Amino acid sequence: MHMGDSILKRSLIKSKERVNEHGEVFTAEREVNAMLDLVKNETERIDSRFLEPACGDGNFLVEILRRKLAVVKKRYKKQPSEYGKYALIAVSSIYGVELLKDNAEECRRRLFEIFKSEYTECCGKTTDEECIDAVRFILSRNILCGDALTLLDSNQKPIVFSEWAMVTGNMVKRRDFELSMLLAVHPRESLFVYAYFAKHILCITLIRG
Ligand SMILES: C[S@@+](CC[C@H](N)C(=O)[O-])C[C@H]1O[C@@H](n2cnc3c(N)ncnc32)[C@H](O)[C@@H]1O
Repeated sequence: MHMGDSILKRSLIKSKERVNEHGEVFTAEREVNAMLDLVKNETERIDSRFLEPACGDGNFLVEILRRKLAVVKKRYKKQPSEYGKYALIAVSSIYGVELLKDNAEECRRRLFEIFKSEYTECCGKTTDEECIDAVRFILSRNILCGDALTLLDSNQKPIVFSEWAMVTGNMVKRRDFELSMLLAVHPRESLFVYAYFAKHILCITLIRG
């Protein structure tokens, strides 16, 4: 646990206005862990894909990344290049949509900081700046500011997510999908592990695949 980023220390409410207007009440660490434990195996599978359509500043996604990186560390801490590759796969499988720009930015920042500190701790002098840049870029595409109900981004364009796949060496292949198409294809296979009721029902979704 990174004490500086402990969910317990983070306020669960920013203002009454934001609660009223956007249903913005963040989930505390204990509940986040209890809910994620319902799908513990998936949170510890490095490449399992998670999409949270109202991710706030990332309490769930941050914990999912921590769990995945703990597995990467256990398996590859003595092989820096493999560690980098699998840590990148872990990050690239995490997706979020958030209506408010400051929350989306904070979510991206937290995920990046966790990756960077784990990666540099594990790989020391063999840390590869290109891997860090790749993760920064992936997060800029995976954590989007948009509306999960209209499926439009902050520019009123359809939300597009990328599927990332490692090919030979350090090459990563990207395929783009409109979120509306993904939801049309996956509605039944998706496993809903968390729902909250504000003005609308949104949920955290684990995409099987
Ligand atoms: C109850 S908070 C939960 C945040 C986070 N999932 C957590 O548990 O800590 C709901 C979040 O959904 C966001 N939100 C509300 N309506 C949304 C929408 N239509 N699309 C995307 N995000 C939305 C709010 O800005 C807020 O950050």
